[in-house]
Amino acid sequence: MLFSSVQLGDMTLANRVVMAPMTRSRAGSDHVPNDLMARYYAQRAGAGLIITEGSPISELGRGYAFTPGIYTQAQIDGWKKVTDAVHQRGGNIFIQLWHVGRVTHPDITGGLQAMAPSAVKGANKPYGPLGDGRYGFLEQQTPRAMSLVDIKQVQQEFVQAARNAIEAGFDGVELHSANTYLFEQFMLRSANQRTDEYGGAQENRLRFLIETVTQVAEAIGAQKVGFRLSPYLVLDDPDVDSEMPQLAIKALKALAHLPLAYVHFSEHVATWRPVPTRFRRQVRAAWPHSVLVAGRHTRESAEDMIESGHADMVAFGEYFIANPDLVYRFHNHIPLNHSDRSTYYGGDRKGLTDYPIVDPDFADLAE
Ligand SMILES: Cc1cc2nc3c(=O)[nH]c(=O)nc-3n(C[C@H](O)[C@H](O)[C@H](O)COP(=O)(O)O)c2cc1C
Repeated sequence: MLFSSVQLGDMTLANRVVMAPMTRSRAGSDHVPNDLMARYYAQRAGAGLIITEGSPISELGRGYAFTPGIYTQAQIDGWKKVTDAVHQRGGNIFIQLWHVGRVTHPDITGGLQAMAPSAVKGANKPYGPLGDGRYGFLEQQTPRAMSLVDIKQVQQEFVQAARNAIEAGFDGVELHSANTYLFEQFMLRSANQRTDEYGGAQENRLRFLIETVTQVAEAIGAQKVGFRLSPYLVLDDPDVDSEMPQLAIKALKALAHLPLAYVHFSEHVATWRPVPTRFRRQVRAAWPHSVLVAGRHTRESAEDMIESGHADMVAFGEYFIANPDLVYRFHNHIPLNHSDRSTYYGGDRKGLTDYPIVDPDFADLAE
C-alpha cells in the first residue's frame, strides 16, 4: 500500500512515502534558498510529497543559523528554483512554516529578544554563532511575554508567509506546531502562564493554533494547509505534560470542519516514546482528513501503519538524508545508504547532494 497513489487535498500523490521536514542549514547567512538546495530537493522528488525544512516566517522566528526564510522577495525567488526543480521531476512539495518562539538567541535573530507566550526560559537549545568563529548550540535567554498585538502580528506573518509560499510555487504549507516551538509553547502548561484568553484552560492554550490555522486556510485554501503536532514527544520540558495528547485531540475536533490537507504527527526527534493505539483510534474518530506519521519507521512498520488504518501516509526523516531515491529502494528491496550525522546541519554539498542514487529516473542528478 505504501506504493499506491493517494489523494491529498486537491493533489493526487504517486505514493504514500513522504519526505519529513528536515533542517539542513545550507541557505547561507542571507537565508535565501539556493541552487544547491534545489538540487537536493529535486533528487528526492520521487517521494509522494516533500515537506521542506522548517522555514522561518520572520527574522525573530528563526532559531537556527543558515535556515531559509519565506518573508522576503529574494527568499520567495530562491524557493521558486526549488519548487520548479521538484515539479519538473513530477514531485509535490509543501513548505514548513516555522516560528521558534523562545528557542532562539539574539545572536541568531539580529539582536532581537525572543518572544513567547510567557517570560519563561526553556531547555531546548538554538543553533548559532559561538563567538569564536564556530557554530554550535546556545543557551536560551529569557523571552519577553507576547502582547495581544504581538500575537495578532505573528498570525499575520503566518498568513503572509503562506501567501509567499503560494507565490513561490509550493503546493501547500505545513504549520510547524510541534517539537516545542511557538505553537507548542502556547499549549504547554509550563511555558504558558498567561491569564488572558490565550492561557489557562485547554481551550485557551489551543486558541493561538486554531486561530492561526484557520486564518492561513482562509488565505490560501484549506486543502493546501496541514499542521504538525507532537503530543508524545518530550524535548524541552523535563516533565511530561500529560495533557498534550488531550489537547491534540481537541485541536483536531476544533479544526475538523475545515477541509484541511492533513495532520502530521512527529513522533521521534532525539527522544521517542511509544504512541498508544488508543490515541491513534481517537485521532481517526476526531479527524476526517488525512493522517501522516513520522518517527523511526522502516518500510515494514510504515506498511503496518497504513494497513492497520492508523495513517494514510508515512514520513521518513533520516533515511531520506542518505537515500534520495528512497521510494525506488524500498520498492525494489535495495539496501539503504547510511547517513553521516556530522553533515546534517550546515556546510556545503557534502552530506547534502552527494549520496548515491540508483533510481534510473534520477541518475542524472547524482553527483
Ligand atoms: C537533521 C534533522 C533535521 C530536522 N529538522 C526538522 C524540522 O525542521 N522540522 C520538523 O518538524 N522536524 C524536523 N526533524 C524531524 C523529522 O521531521 C522527523 O520527524 C524525524 O527525523 C523522525 O523521523 P525518522 O525517525 O524517520 O528520521 C529533523 C530531523 C533531522 C534528522
